Amino acid sequence: MQSGNAARGSFGSQLGVILASAGSAVGLGNIWRFPTEVGKGGGAAFILIYLGFIFLIAMPVMISEFIIGRSARSNAIGAFQKLAPGKLWVAAGIMGVLGGFLVLSFYSVVAGWTLHYTIQSALGQLQGLQTTVNGQQTTDFAAAFNAFVSDPWQPILYIAVFLLLTHLVVARGIRHGIERYSKLMMPMLLAIIVLLVCFSLMMPGASEGIRFLLKPDLSRVTPEVILGAMGQAFFSLSVGLGCLVTYASYFNNETRLVSSAMNVCIIDTMVAVLSGFIIFPTVFSVGIAPDAGPGLVFITLPNVFLLTFGEMPVAGYIFSLLFYVLLLLAALTSSISMHEICTAFISEHFSHSRKRAAAIVTIVCLVLGSFCSLSFGPWQEVTIFGRGFFDLFDYTVTKFLMPLGGLLITVFVGWWLDRKLVEGQLTNDGSISIRAMKPLLFLIRWVAPIGILVIFLNELFPLFMMN
Ligand code: ALA
Repeated sequence: MQSGNAARGSFGSQLGVILASAGSAVGLGNIWRFPTEVGKGGGAAFILIYLGFIFLIAMPVMISEFIIGRSARSNAIGAFQKLAPGKLWVAAGIMGVLGGFLVLSFYSVVAGWTLHYTIQSALGQLQGLQTTVNGQQTTDFAAAFNAFVSDPWQPILYIAVFLLLTHLVVARGIRHGIERYSKLMMPMLLAIIVLLVCFSLMMPGASEGIRFLLKPDLSRVTPEVILGAMGQAFFSLSVGLGCLVTYASYFNNETRLVSSAMNVCIIDTMVAVLSGFIIFPTVFSVGIAPDAGPGLVFITLPNVFLLTFGEMPVAGYIFSLLFYVLLLLAALTSSISMHEICTAFISEHFSHSRKRAAAIVTIVCLVLGSFCSLSFGPWQEVTIFGRGFFDLFDYTVTKFLMPLGGLLITVFVGWWLDRKLVEGQLTNDGSISIRAMKPLLFLIRWVAPIGILVIFLNELFPLFMMN
């Protein structure tokens, strides 16, 4: 097996590998998307289906990415060029790098909003009713949110600050940047989650939220819910874009690919479920209907913080600040991995220094992120294929690039790569034994590609029908 290349950098410890990869997985998707999907999709019934997809489909894709990355020791595009020179498989790498740019651009917009809300919380302006709309103080969080996101400049300023933070970590390299900060941020993130869960479960009426989250309601499990669970599993683990191909290229020869992937899946799922335990008891304790996405995090929750903690301003201050810091940390650890897909490619392909490559990625994403941000304000009318920039980027990545990338990656590893190379990677050249080798290969060769194909076709057909 080829060993790590000192010039490319490598992770220094197994803990670093797991925390960096888990950081890539744990993101905004876990905290706002998962709980809502669970609520809509039949509570515990959805969680069980989701777990099935995590371990049967998304994890095999993750392991396949690890195999490609560590055997090629190159960026997402370079890896396919090395393992399949002159072949069209490189398309999977190209889609991954393109996807990295797009995700980082639209993700930075929401991360920028989160940064704004974190600062508002820290200044005591969220629960202190001091939100201003058009120069007037208001308690209308929806109006405050809409006024903020449609402003032409403010959100872009926050995108720039968020991208700069991401940039500073990536520019420092693998061990001193990504590994070091993942080791710092992930334990903080996990500690905040546990604190907030305890806080949330102590609220009066919290049990109704727990029931909503956990009651298995089989009548809600429709084919769409099942496909939704599959899409969520995919997005949540950040698989299909070559992000983990890139990270695995920095693993050392002793890293155990299968157990690392299992650990990442367990951490990611735990964070998603615990986020549900933060959000639903809190929301139900004040009797507000749980909403999805930005509405939940930037409109409903500030309202909830206000209502719940009206009498206890200090508790409200701490809760809301911790919540937005949690969201910010989650966004940052994921955006670092998206930035790294692009930085590694530019640095290696065009022989630029890491710092220069990172600067190029940051600037390009700032421009694209600004387009996304403007689509909430002055560019609301500017659409491509009927979608504003933010929607277009989100849609392209989650509905096309991720599933198609995941499909190509599993077929590449399961059917095209030399079986000896694959088994050598899984067993660290025979130094460890993998008891479930056959079932694992079956998942990579059959279950994952077929499962992904089903999601993909399901996305494609409504699209054709629309035209
Ligand atoms: N995996 C990242 C998330 O869940 C992209 O947000």
